[in-house]
Amino acid sequence: MPNDVAVANKPMEGGGFYNRNSSLQAAGIELALPLLEAAARAIPMGGSAPLVVADYGASQGRNSMRPLCLAIAALRERFGAERPIEVIHTDLPSNDFASLFTTLQNDAGSYLTGDPLIFPSAVGRSYFEPILPPGRVHLGWNTWTLHWMSRNPVEVPDSLLAILGASEEAREAVRRQQAQDWRRYLSSRAAEMADGARLVTLFMGRTDEVHGWDWIAGELWAAAMEMAEDGLISAAELGRFTLPAAGRSKADLEAPFAGGEFAGLSLEHVEVREAPDPFWDLLQETHDVGQFARSWAGMMRAVSGPIAAEAFASQPDAEALADELFRRLESRVAAAPQRHLHFVAIAVIRKTAPG
Ligand SMILES: C[S@@+](CC[C@H](N)C(=O)[O-])C[C@H]1O[C@@H](n2cnc3c(N)ncnc32)[C@H](O)[C@@H]1O
Repeated sequence: MPNDVAVANKPMEGGGFYNRNSSLQAAGIELALPLLEAAARAIPMGGSAPLVVADYGASQGRNSMRPLCLAIAALRERFGAERPIEVIHTDLPSNDFASLFTTLQNDAGSYLTGDPLIFPSAVGRSYFEPILPPGRVHLGWNTWTLHWMSRNPVEVPDSLLAILGASEEAREAVRRQQAQDWRRYLSSRAAEMADGARLVTLFMGRTDEVHGWDWIAGELWAAAMEMAEDGLISAAELGRFTLPAAGRSKADLEAPFAGGEFAGLSLEHVEVREAPDPFWDLLQETHDVGQFARSWAGMMRAVSGPIAAEAFASQPDAEALADELFRRLESRVAAAPQRHLHFVAIAVIRKTAPG
């Protein structure tokens, strides 16, 4: 397998930071929970071997606890308390797996609580290739990961996300990469899924007209530009601060299935819908702009801090520069709070035939 994956792909900010700063993602995940429970009720019985649930791109685990508790409850109802269940959490090799296992052990909401027949493990490899043995997975779960591309196809000088930049050529490079990654992800999962297995996936979506994320991505970019103007980072470093991420439309998700099945998979459900902004909702209750700004700075640092640190890596004080960047973001958000507009794409995929 080529080693081109995971170069531009960075894990989330470590030391449990993502766990503490991902309530926006948790709010979006709620939208897919009924589909996950329905999928857990639909998978085949599969004899008496352990049931295998795979959580692809688990990060530090906190946002996986509630979905997996619900899925496991549905599996327990159908298959009984005696059937062993394996839960395999996957992520990039550089992910903070220590926080994941600490969460599993200590979090009050851990799915391990009170069930001795659940066996968690982890795989530190990019999911753009098969990472589990053929036919092994009965239920797959994957949230907020697939908007991250396997590689960064292009850097742009005018935007945090190339898909929001001025260059149509750059936007086309992103769309091409996203189309290729979606197919590659699906074929890799197809190899791992048992017949009748389901995969429920949620990631950044877009409508045909609106991509979303322009406000907060624009603010973070403006904070980085201020730093360039103040001589703290160079134009080249600013240019390297491009997040390899973009939303997909419903048509993007459907494309591989245009002829029916793709790699022995069928698309059971697909939608793109507006996702919640829990920070804004809380602000309407509390009027606490400081908290609102801290939530946004924390969330944006959780997902883009490691990319900022790499963009500034040639400087001796790269971490201090990242601190400064997210301090500036916090000030900007506090000065002009807004409701964040964004969408999620959700798909349920079934393994129908050998891939
Ligand atoms: C925003 S976090 C999502 C974590 C969690 N699933 C959630 O919903 O909150 C995105 C995760 O995807 C992981 N990721 C990105 N590209 C990946 C890849 N190619 N293979 C495996 N994991 C990947 C990142 O390392 C990160 O932990």
